Amino acid sequence: MPAGRIYLETFGCQMNELDSQLVQGALSARGYSFTPDSDAADVILYNTCSVREQAEQKVWSRLGELKRAKDARPALVVGVLGCLAERDGADLIRRMPVVDILCGPGELDKLPALLDNAVRTRAALPPDSARASARQVALQGSASRRSATLAAAADDLEMLDLSRAISPTDHSGSAYVRITRGCNKFCTYCVVPFTRGAEVHRPPEHIIDECRRLADAGVLEVTLLGQTVNHYRFEHDHATAVAGVTQPQKGRAYKGSHHRDALEGERVTTFAGLLRRIHDEVPSIRRLRFVTSYPRDFGNDVLEVIRDSPRICRYLHVPVQTGSDRMLRAMNRGYTLAEYEEFLARARAYLDAPGRPLMLSTDVITGFPGETDDDHDATMGLLRRARFKNCFIFKYSPRPGTVAFDRLPDDVPGEVKRRRNSELLALQESISDEVSRAQVGLTFDVMVEGVSRKALRESGLTHGEIRRAAGAVALTVAGRTVAESEAHDHACAGEHGCDARSHVLAPAPEGPVQLSGRTDGDQIVFFDAPAGVDAARLIGRILRVRVERAHRLGLHGVITGN
Ligand code: SAH
Ligand code: SF4
Ligand code: F3S
Repeated sequence: MPAGRIYLETFGCQMNELDSQLVQGALSARGYSFTPDSDAADVILYNTCSVREQAEQKVWSRLGELKRAKDARPALVVGVLGCLAERDGADLIRRMPVVDILCGPGELDKLPALLDNAVRTRAALPPDSARASARQVALQGSASRRSATLAAAADDLEMLDLSRAISPTDHSGSAYVRITRGCNKFCTYCVVPFTRGAEVHRPPEHIIDECRRLADAGVLEVTLLGQTVNHYRFEHDHATAVAGVTQPQKGRAYKGSHHRDALEGERVTTFAGLLRRIHDEVPSIRRLRFVTSYPRDFGNDVLEVIRDSPRICRYLHVPVQTGSDRMLRAMNRGYTLAEYEEFLARARAYLDAPGRPLMLSTDVITGFPGETDDDHDATMGLLRRARFKNCFIFKYSPRPGTVAFDRLPDDVPGEVKRRRNSELLALQESISDEVSRAQVGLTFDVMVEGVSRKALRESGLTHGEIRRAAGAVALTVAGRTVAESEAHDHACAGEHGCDARSHVLAPAPEGPVQLSGRTDGDQIVFFDAPAGVDAARLIGRILRVRVERAHRLGLHGVITGN
């Protein structure tokens, strides 16, 4: 059996983090091992993101650095997985001959076979043949959106999730579970429908079974993943099975507002129905979260289920993108600002409660083609009224292959984008500060996620090792915090409002070990570990913490119980 040590680094969103975990499980089962040290690896895999140019730049520079490593170690195998591989395809190989494997996010089930082949081929090449090809490619190609063949063929990608290796020792109390893959929305700026393919919903039984297995292994918090989770819909009458495995079902095109009537019927599982089933059937999951919600078609059925289910978090991430109706149309978002604000009011009416406030967050793109000062002011106005807990602000980045790239000139000058970006940031910072301060005096359940940098230093790891390990292997000392910090650094790079996750690694003052965690409203909380307790052992536990002071980056509190 071929084997080797793999260095795996992950860029991009939670979907990619989950993909990396699944890939790691599948490759471990074939005898590969994982190392946080890229210099010690036989195989280097980057799981990439393509959502903005800056995300791609990071990968390009990593690949550039590998040229020398590959000259020195011709047997090194380099693989590019994920959205950049899918978007750039063969061009990527032309630009970067160091790449041996290209594997799109829709083809990751094929990765073990590709890697075995590449490792064998590389090993068989003469030692001086650094440039010779061991090339293995699996891309979906945007022309063949995977769902077209779903009715006829087995959806092998489902097997990657189904064969997920779950063990009580390799999680930090929290886990992602995919409910929907791909996206049918085609917002004019976005690459995701091209890189991740058509929307496909997993059978509810598979999702619930995965949640149950995670809970049995000690996971307390599950985050359901999808680009538009509230579009989830599985029609049992149309379910098909291949070799005894129920197949995922393709989503519909989202042109009309049919989801209004998608109430839970006997034979349909909607998002509301799915949430209720997971909540009720797997009660040992103490926290159920989901991202990302699409602003339109967010029915009262979902809000009612959240309201009536104590273990579903009071947190909604609902990207608005812009406060201008004109820009919303140009982005093909399919809702008006008034509809978005009506949704916010409805969500608050259902879910905001004394002592358990509903927290909302959003994404904004600034400098979309044609955006005027008036459009920008409309977005500022929305932020003032909506009072989001935080807002991720992105400067528009034209993406090849999208409608906006082809049809709308990127005409907002860089300096105007930067100015609008900083105005939005400054405004949101002051709002985040106020939202945080309003929590002082409340006591929350807090899921412990990490220890401060001081404690990490005491673990003997250097900062570089922590960063490199972040995308590669779960760190038992601070697993999730470090990984999130890396993901955040990646997403942030100074261009949007920071929500403090990267600050978990900020130096702590001398004294007790500082822990960080999250409320069920997704607010970051810092607090001291009790004296004499091994702080790392508290990771993944839920503790009661009373908030004593607060600022825009988080809350500071004291433990009052568990
Ligand atoms: N499915 C989610 C978002 C996925 S991408 C949704 O629809 O809400 C995450 C965020 O990246 C988006 O919400 C958007 O704000 C941002 N984004 C996507 N494409 C972008 C682009 N071309 N330029 C700048 N930001 C972009
Ligand atoms: Fe992209 Fe829009 Fe789909 Fe979100 S809903 S992934 S922004 S196309
Ligand atoms: Fe995620 Fe980036 Fe792909 S945000 S879906 S990894 S383009």
